[in-house]
Amino acid sequence: MKEMIIAGNWKMNTTPIEAVKLVNEIDNFLNENQYSIKESVLNEKLKYVVCPPFLYLQTLLMVAKQNNSLLNFGAQNCYFEESGAFTGEISSKMLNEIGAKFAILGHSERRTIFKESDELINKKIKSVLNSNLTPIFCIGETLEQRQNGTTNEVLKNQLLIGLEGIKEILKNNSNLKFVIAYEPVWAIGTGLAATTEQVGETHNFIKNEVNSILGLEIPILYGGSLNEKNAQELLTLENVNGGLIGGASLKLESFTKIIEIAESIQN
Ligand code: PGA
Repeated sequence: MKEMIIAGNWKMNTTPIEAVKLVNEIDNFLNENQYSIKESVLNEKLKYVVCPPFLYLQTLLMVAKQNNSLLNFGAQNCYFEESGAFTGEISSKMLNEIGAKFAILGHSERRTIFKESDELINKKIKSVLNSNLTPIFCIGETLEQRQNGTTNEVLKNQLLIGLEGIKEILKNNSNLKFVIAYEPVWAIGTGLAATTEQVGETHNFIKNEVNSILGLEIPILYGGSLNEKNAQELLTLENVNGGLIGGASLKLESFTKIIEIAESIQN
């Protein structure tokens, strides 16, 4: 049974009231469908993650606790310093203390809009691991890079810098987990997901590169217009360990359908 993670990246969407409603609805779905007793969830081979805006992460964690929820929660970003004069920033230590388990780092929107470099992302990954959170480290090529045949080169470079010094950290603490998300920039929010051939091939490449850098097998999620219609074919691929889902994670029916598909692949 392969390890799978179904993670929703809500981005800057939902109001606090809508967010509580959505989490309650997802929890109702999970409870009604008795996924709580399914072995794959209990033995942690299948995880569900929701990454809402920082502002109500803690509220949602409390709501989920009351619901006896199977959901895990994560942040969409964080800063690498533990505390100090960094106006507007949130640290991984804070996230850990409120009970978040994951942090998305290096998302292409952060790289492009907020000018995050591979070096900065590497520092953030280290900080997240030091706080015992699981990074969901995003990499991906632009359309231009895919078209001019430099996809592998771009991904390799993002991996080499992003994963610098991580091998030692993981070696010293076997409880730490690490997740990579392959998100072709041209597929994010466009409704045009990568094809199964592209995903299969690229995940294979990433898997081998990560293996040679870290000496470990790391789960690799696919992200970019993943929805209830293409989830079956993409999540079934051998080297795909789940998905990082934007738009479709905000729609109850789409997100729960993807959960059902992941469950059926697992069982
Ligand atoms: P999308 O976003 O599913 O809306 O394409 C994915 C992401 O940005 O993580």
